[in-house]
Amino acid sequence: MDWEAAKMMCSLQFWRMAVYWTLALVYSRLYLLLLPYLSNRFPSLFRPPPPPFSRRRFSPGHQCPVRRPICVVTGVSPSRSLLPLDPFCNSEGLFTACCWQATSGLGKAAARALAAEGYHVLLASRSPQALNKAVWEIKKHDPNAYVEAFQLDISSMHSIMKFECNLKQWLQDANLHPSVQLLINNAGILAKSSRVTADGFDEMIETNYLGAFFLTNILLPLLKNSPVPSRIVNVTSFTHRCGELKTRTHHNHFSHVDQNKGILARENFHVFSSKKYCFAQIYEYSKFCTLLFSYELHRQLYAMDSASVVSVMAADPGFVETNIMRELPPSLRKLAFMVLGFLHLLQSPEIGVGSIIDAALASPEASGKYFYGAKGRTIKSSPVSYDAKLSKELWLCSYELLQECKSRIVNLSKLD
Ligand SMILES: NC(=O)c1ccc[n+]([C@@H]2O[C@H](COP(=O)([O-])OP(=O)(O)OC[C@H]3O[C@@H](n4cnc5c(N)ncnc54)[C@H](OP(=O)(O)O)[C@@H]3O)[C@@H](O)[C@H]2O)c1
Repeated sequence: MDWEAAKMMCSLQFWRMAVYWTLALVYSRLYLLLLPYLSNRFPSLFRPPPPPFSRRRFSPGHQCPVRRPICVVTGVSPSRSLLPLDPFCNSEGLFTACCWQATSGLGKAAARALAAEGYHVLLASRSPQALNKAVWEIKKHDPNAYVEAFQLDISSMHSIMKFECNLKQWLQDANLHPSVQLLINNAGILAKSSRVTADGFDEMIETNYLGAFFLTNILLPLLKNSPVPSRIVNVTSFTHRCGELKTRTHHNHFSHVDQNKGILARENFHVFSSKKYCFAQIYEYSKFCTLLFSYELHRQLYAMDSASVVSVMAADPGFVETNIMRELPPSLRKLAFMVLGFLHLLQSPEIGVGSIIDAALASPEASGKYFYGAKGRTIKSSPVSYDAKLSKELWLCSYELLQECKSRIVNLSKLD
């Protein structure tokens, strides 16, 4: 155990993750496993779980201008080393060699699965080298896969706007219908330290929530233009159940849009001006906001108009062995994987991606559902995440920020 790990183990953030996150995960798992039994045994107390949603394959009619649906997946990394496996030691107990376990994230697992379902998958991530490697890995596995790489830094409005231009240009050059059928907002980070983006936000908040909100709104015309039903899948997390605690204490602040904006600003400015960056809480909060955003978008697009072409789903992969904890000390990551593996709560990306693929391929009637546990299953998210007023206020605030960022970028480009 190194000094950094020992220091972190003495922090509240570590214990918050170790205790609250495990409890939230156990709660989701028990909900999934026990509800069928409890609703059978005590029908007056527990409603039966909704029937699972089956996956549907895209089958265009003869006249359909979309032959192969277009899917944008954000946050796709190639395989990379995750953790050193047990080091080999010589007879004196000295470290001599170390082999590395390789993993890729949920983005690549989703891209591979969707390419196999016949989608033309556009990988959108920030590093061109990593993107090229991810394309190569997917094609190596399936030479017939339709995959393209697009550079996108989701924590930058400038990059999002550039991505939109590149995407439209690509659709035009490839002579494809000017529409997108599926957007998977997957990119995310668990940042241990406070960092500010070019847009002036906290990096974790912008990457995990605001960036997805901005990108979705910017791509909405392309999604609405689809001649076949289109879809947005937001990847959220069981940790939103803990984020709710924090939001409840601030509940009154959400009652006014400007104050709500103040909350985002406080997350962005107050937090990093203080010495202690409450990274676990900010991660939970970002995933909670993603969920409020998903439900609000569902209400606006689908619930108000069932003829709407766009459906919106939230997907929670559970706890998955990926690189999301890369900023934490390796020994603590290893400990987390060991403990959760022992509790049978750890999954590989190929298994964890199940809920994301279910959400992507379910029938449009599943709009507004929270996919968890694969096999087409959905569960209820935290009670406060269904608060329509809260979602609306968060939406208005985020929309204002979107307009501000957009006009700043447009003004800057006029100056250039
Ligand atoms: N793993 C879990 O247990 C778990 C549980 C619940 C939810 N989730 C969510 O699942 C999603 C995928 O995470 P993961 O577990 O697959 O972790 P991961 O392996 O770290 O993947 C995250 C991906 O997001 C990308 N990304 C980060 N910042 C970006 C930015 N500014 N612009 C564009 N792409 C960016 C990363 O690209 P780089 O390689 O360039 O950094 C990486 O490809 C995240 O939203 C995460 O919160 C994960």
